Amino acid sequence: MELDKIYNEDCIEGMKRIPSDSINAIITDPPYCIGTTSNGKKGSYNDNNLIKPFFEILFKEWVRVCKEGAELYINTDWRTYPFLYPILQKYFQVKNLIVWDYEWIKAGSHYRFSHEFIIYAVKGEAKRRFSASERDVWRIRPINFTSPDKLHNAQKPLELIDKMIRNSSVEGDIILDCFSGSGTTAVACINNNRHYICFEIDESYFQISLDRIRNVFSEPKLEM
Ligand SMILES: C[S@@+](CC[C@H](N)C(=O)[O-])C[C@H]1O[C@@H](n2cnc3c(N)ncnc32)[C@H](O)[C@@H]1O
Repeated sequence: MELDKIYNEDCIEGMKRIPSDSINAIITDPPYCIGTTSNGKKGSYNDNNLIKPFFEILFKEWVRVCKEGAELYINTDWRTYPFLYPILQKYFQVKNLIVWDYEWIKAGSHYRFSHEFIIYAVKGEAKRRFSASERDVWRIRPINFTSPDKLHNAQKPLELIDKMIRNSSVEGDIILDCFSGSGTTAVACINNNRHYICFEIDESYFQISLDRIRNVFSEPKLEM
């Protein structure tokens, strides 16, 4: 399968073409299937029951494509995590639930939302040990809703994805993102000299992500 491409297709279908034991890390942000979704429709808690079979197939396929020791970062929230955990832990060692502290507040009348979760898991034996200074609470500002950089309702800040990539891969590694949205993971991979395979099912977000990548190549690379 060609590397450094975003594929406009269902990830379950597309992943069938990825060779087994070829992926170094998965960094991904599945729809939370709750609240206002990326297509603007309102979801409900019970909708998550409908998505269980989907995640069963997805995680099984992730185990197949991942190398031994591959690390996974899965963005989620407090409502979706209870559905994902029992399925994920059948296939991977779930090592932690990182708290992404927004360092600011969003809407919410029962305590205002100021965090999300990131599941951190490993395929098989965990090889990496983080330094004692690496905490499981990350303080990173989300994309400002009014910012011109905002391309997707659920867009994640580059800084967040950069941190995952740098902590859990080395240059030349292959990163998989099955739900690429506006292409944040792809851009972070380009900036950090990693290869990527991304899938995005929605045609308009796919086009947005292609434009974003073209802009990365037309802009001078910033030293970080
Ligand atoms: C939470 S958003 C990801 C946002 C992304 N992290 C960003 O920074 O832009 C999830 C994306 O997954 C896409 N998606 C949903 N189901 C999919 C599937 N089966 N295969 C591929 N993409 C899918 C949605 O269209 C949506 O754009």
